[in-house]
Amino acid sequence: NLPTQVKIVEVGPRDGLQNEKEDVPAEVKIALVDRLSAAGFANIEAAAFVSPKWVPQMATSRQVMDGIARKPGVIYSALTPNLQGFEAALAARADEVVIFGSASEAFSQRNINCSIAESIARFEPVARAAKEHGIRLRGSISTAFGCPYQGEVPLAAVSDVVARMRDLGCDEIDIADTIGVATPRHAQAVMAAAIAAFPIERLSGHFHDTYGQALANIYASLELGIAIFHSSVAGLGGCPYAKGATGNVATEDVLYMLNGLGIDTGIDLDQVVDAGAYISQFLGRKGASRAGNALLAK
Ligand code: HMG
Ligand code: MG
Repeated sequence: NLPTQVKIVEVGPRDGLQNEKEDVPAEVKIALVDRLSAAGFANIEAAAFVSPKWVPQMATSRQVMDGIARKPGVIYSALTPNLQGFEAALAARADEVVIFGSASEAFSQRNINCSIAESIARFEPVARAAKEHGIRLRGSISTAFGCPYQGEVPLAAVSDVVARMRDLGCDEIDIADTIGVATPRHAQAVMAAAIAAFPIERLSGHFHDTYGQALANIYASLELGIAIFHSSVAGLGGCPYAKGATGNVATEDVLYMLNGLGIDTGIDLDQVVDAGAYISQFLGRKGASRAGNALLAK
């Protein structure tokens, strides 16, 4: 029995665009976010208040948050690695802040320059501040299915970080396949390790399509009852600290599959296809969504 309703968190404007070499002006990001909210997403990851030296593409996050036409009820999320990031997100009126850690020690060092234990200590004041201000708190766990630097990631490491993020008070926790290496049974094993430590209805799957496995892994997660997934319009993305990582699974592809399964998302596929065409045209390349390209060719 698959879930009858699924929430899709659209991460294209942040996870998708953070890796672009060419500067994407704030106005383009704003237009993209507004097209996505019009398409019906209830949650859009729009910004990252991280060091501009580490991720230059996210330096315009404040302008983006100031420029978007906020649609009532939509959660606009921002990444906040530390208290400095949180203060910026607060000033920019983010509806949700995202602390992002890793299930792999090696990746934690490369991505946020500290150990897993140190990252949790850094997240503590962020979590406390989020609670004080009544802002939703999300925890994201990278490289839960495999790591570009250390290879295998033990299941126990996943449930351990999930438990730590739960204890910090996260409202939602993402289990991320940063480098897209999982296959369906492995995906189920990792998601099951997370389910053992956190309520399933607040767990999400963040799959990348590097090896073409993302839809299969989403389906495998649906079979377990996971009902929140992240995806990126036109398959935008990659990760600056994971070489060769392609984009998140394309939103159009996920929607096409969920529509076919009769699962309700509240999102209009045609409008997402248009948003994908808009950003792909700006970037000067064909979008990476199979469904998106097929629908555009019709
Ligand atoms: P650090 O160098 O260890 O930090 O970086 P620091 O505290 O020593 O500060 C160094 C400098 O950064 C200082 O500036 C700070 O002011 C500045 P300086 O004095 O040298 O001029 N700084 C900041 N500036 C703006 N906003 C901030 C901030 N914090 C410090 N919040 C830090 C540590 C975490 C800041 C750094 O490593 C960083 O910004 N990393 C970001 C990495 C990142 O964004 N990665 C991509 C997102 S994760 C992802 O995509 C995966 C995900 O999608 C799931 C998946 O697919 O796996 C979520
Ligand atoms: Mg990602």
